[in-house]
Amino acid sequence: MTAIALGADHAGYTLKEDLKAWLGSRGYETVDMGTRSPASVDYPDFAAAVALAIIAGKAERGVLVCGTGIGMAMAANKVPGVRAAACTDSYTARMSREHNDANVLALGARVTARDAAIEILATWLAAPFAGGRHARRVVKLGELERVRGSAEERFGAKAR
Ligand code: RB5
Repeated sequence: MTAIALGADHAGYTLKEDLKAWLGSRGYETVDMGTRSPASVDYPDFAAAVALAIIAGKAERGVLVCGTGIGMAMAANKVPGVRAAACTDSYTARMSREHNDANVLALGARVTARDAAIEILATWLAAPFAGGRHARRVVKLGELERVRGSAEERFGAKAR
Protein backbone atom coordinates (compact mmCIF):
# COMPACT_ATOMS: atom_id res chain seq x y z
CA MET A 1 0.00 0.00 0.00
CA THR A 2 1.10 3.54 -0.67
CA ALA A 3 0.74 6.07 2.09
CA ILE A 4 -2.21 6.52 4.43
CA ALA A 5 -3.35 10.13 4.74
CA LEU A 6 -4.42 11.22 8.21
CA GLY A 7 -6.62 14.12 9.20
CA ALA A 8 -8.39 15.32 12.32
CA ASP A 9 -10.05 18.32 13.87
CA HIS A 10 -9.47 19.43 17.46
CA ALA A 11 -11.74 16.69 18.82
CA GLY A 12 -9.80 14.01 16.96
CA TYR A 13 -6.30 15.44 17.29
CA THR A 14 -5.05 13.25 20.14
CA LEU A 15 -6.47 10.03 18.68
CA LYS A 16 -5.06 10.93 15.26
CA GLU A 17 -1.60 11.26 16.86
CA ASP A 18 -2.05 7.86 18.56
CA LEU A 19 -3.13 6.23 15.29
CA LYS A 20 -0.22 7.81 13.44
CA ALA A 21 2.21 6.35 15.98
CA TRP A 22 0.55 2.94 15.74
CA LEU A 23 0.64 2.98 11.94
CA GLY A 24 4.31 3.94 12.00
CA SER A 25 5.09 1.10 14.40
CA ARG A 26 3.44 -1.30 11.92
CA GLY A 27 5.51 -0.03 8.99
CA TYR A 28 2.85 2.08 7.26
CA GLU A 29 3.87 5.31 5.63
CA THR A 30 1.62 8.15 6.75
CA VAL A 31 0.93 11.63 5.41
CA ASP A 32 -0.36 13.90 8.17
CA MET A 33 -2.69 16.57 6.78
CA GLY A 34 -3.29 18.07 10.25
CA THR A 35 -4.58 19.44 12.47
CA ARG A 36 -1.42 19.83 14.53
CA SER A 37 -2.78 21.05 17.86
CA PRO A 38 -5.94 20.81 19.99
CA ALA A 39 -6.98 24.35 18.97
CA SER A 40 -10.49 24.57 17.51
CA VAL A 41 -10.68 24.09 13.74
CA ASP A 42 -13.32 23.12 11.15
CA TYR A 43 -13.47 19.41 10.29
CA PRO A 44 -14.39 19.89 6.58
CA ASP A 45 -11.00 21.52 5.96
CA PHE A 46 -9.17 18.37 7.05
CA ALA A 47 -11.60 15.99 5.40
CA ALA A 48 -10.98 17.88 2.17
CA ALA A 49 -7.21 17.70 2.57
CA VAL A 50 -7.28 13.93 3.06
CA ALA A 51 -9.83 13.35 0.30
CA LEU A 52 -7.85 15.43 -2.19
CA ALA A 53 -4.60 13.67 -1.23
CA ILE A 54 -6.26 10.38 -2.19
CA ILE A 55 -7.67 11.73 -5.45
CA ALA A 56 -4.24 13.17 -6.31
CA GLY A 57 -2.64 9.76 -5.72
CA LYS A 58 -0.52 10.97 -2.79
CA ALA A 59 -2.19 8.39 -0.56
CA GLU A 60 -4.12 5.21 -1.23
CA ARG A 61 -6.33 5.41 1.83
CA GLY A 62 -7.30 7.91 4.47
CA VAL A 63 -8.16 7.97 8.15
CA LEU A 64 -10.14 10.90 9.53
CA VAL A 65 -10.92 11.59 13.16
CA CYS A 66 -13.40 14.09 14.62
CA GLY A 67 -15.72 13.87 17.62
CA THR A 68 -18.08 11.30 16.14
CA GLY A 69 -16.61 10.47 12.71
CA ILE A 70 -19.87 11.64 11.17
CA GLY A 71 -18.92 15.13 10.02
CA MET A 72 -15.63 13.87 8.59
CA ALA A 73 -17.41 11.13 6.61
CA MET A 74 -20.05 13.59 5.34
CA ALA A 75 -17.41 16.02 4.16
CA ALA A 76 -15.08 13.46 2.60
CA ASN A 77 -17.94 11.83 0.71
CA LYS A 78 -18.57 15.11 -1.13
CA VAL A 79 -15.35 14.49 -3.07
CA PRO A 80 -15.91 12.24 -6.11
CA GLY A 81 -13.92 9.03 -5.82
CA VAL A 82 -13.98 8.98 -2.03
CA ARG A 83 -15.94 6.32 -0.18
CA ALA A 84 -15.73 7.22 3.48
CA ALA A 85 -17.24 5.06 6.22
CA ALA A 86 -17.84 6.24 9.78
CA CYS A 87 -17.30 3.14 11.92
CA THR A 88 -17.63 2.49 15.63
CA ASP A 89 -16.89 -1.25 15.60
CA SER A 90 -14.77 -3.79 13.79
CA TYR A 91 -17.66 -5.48 12.01
CA THR A 92 -18.81 -2.35 10.19
CA ALA A 93 -15.17 -1.49 9.47
CA ARG A 94 -14.64 -4.90 7.84
CA MET A 95 -17.88 -4.66 5.90
CA SER A 96 -16.98 -1.17 4.67
CA ARG A 97 -13.97 -2.74 2.99
CA GLU A 98 -15.44 -6.06 1.84
CA HIS A 99 -18.72 -4.70 0.50
CA ASN A 100 -18.17 -0.98 -0.08
CA ASP A 101 -14.46 -0.75 -0.91
CA ALA A 102 -14.18 2.18 1.50
CA ASN A 103 -11.01 4.16 0.94
CA VAL A 104 -11.48 6.39 3.98
CA LEU A 105 -12.16 5.32 7.55
CA ALA A 106 -13.75 7.96 9.79
CA LEU A 107 -13.48 7.52 13.54
CA GLY A 108 -14.99 9.40 16.46
CA ALA A 109 -12.67 10.19 19.35
CA ARG A 110 -15.61 11.05 21.61
CA VAL A 111 -17.33 7.71 21.03
CA THR A 112 -14.45 5.28 20.47
CA ALA A 113 -11.58 4.72 22.91
CA ARG A 114 -7.98 4.53 21.73
CA ASP A 115 -7.55 0.75 21.90
CA ALA A 116 -10.89 0.13 20.21
CA ALA A 117 -10.00 2.62 17.48
CA ILE A 118 -6.72 0.79 16.85
CA GLU A 119 -8.57 -2.52 16.62
CA ILE A 120 -11.07 -1.01 14.18
CA LEU A 121 -8.25 0.47 12.09
CA ALA A 122 -6.29 -2.80 12.04
CA THR A 123 -9.40 -4.69 10.93
CA TRP A 124 -10.15 -2.12 8.24
CA LEU A 125 -6.61 -2.22 6.85
CA ALA A 126 -6.53 -6.01 6.72
CA ALA A 127 -9.91 -6.52 5.05
CA PRO A 128 -9.90 -6.88 1.24
CA PHE A 129 -12.64 -5.72 -1.11
CA ALA A 130 -14.72 -8.79 -1.99
CA GLY A 131 -15.55 -7.67 -5.55
CA GLY A 132 -18.16 -9.71 -7.45
CA ARG A 133 -21.69 -8.35 -6.97
CA HIS A 134 -20.27 -5.69 -4.67
CA ALA A 135 -18.17 -4.29 -7.51
CA ARG A 136 -21.32 -3.65 -9.52
CA ARG A 137 -22.76 -1.68 -6.60
CA VAL A 138 -19.59 0.33 -6.06
CA VAL A 139 -19.71 1.26 -9.76
CA LYS A 140 -23.21 2.61 -9.09
CA LEU A 141 -21.84 4.75 -6.27
CA GLY A 142 -19.55 6.32 -8.85
CA GLU A 143 -22.48 6.80 -11.22
CA LEU A 144 -24.32 8.72 -8.50
CA GLU A 145 -21.41 11.14 -8.34
CA ARG A 146 -21.71 11.84 -12.04
CA VAL A 147 -25.45 11.92 -12.66
CA ARG A 148 -26.17 14.63 -10.09
CA GLY A 149 -29.32 16.31 -11.44
CA SER A 150 -30.14 13.19 -13.45
CA ALA A 151 -30.22 10.93 -10.39
CA GLU A 152 -33.98 10.66 -10.69
CA GLU A 153 -33.63 9.46 -14.27
CA ARG A 154 -31.02 6.84 -13.39
CA PHE A 155 -32.30 5.61 -10.03
CA GLY A 156 -35.78 7.07 -9.65
CA ALA A 157 -37.78 4.15 -11.05
CA LYS A 158 -36.30 1.66 -8.57
CA ALA A 159 -36.55 4.07 -5.65
CA ARG A 160 -40.31 4.59 -6.05
C1 RB5 B 1 -16.51 19.35 17.06
O1 RB5 B 1 -17.07 19.86 18.23
C2 RB5 B 1 -17.41 18.27 16.48
O2 RB5 B 1 -18.60 18.84 15.99
C3 RB5 B 1 -16.69 17.52 15.38
O3 RB5 B 1 -15.51 16.99 15.87
C4 RB5 B 1 -17.41 16.33 14.77
O4 RB5 B 1 -17.87 15.45 15.74
C5 RB5 B 1 -18.40 16.64 13.75
O5 RB5 B 1 -19.00 15.73 13.14
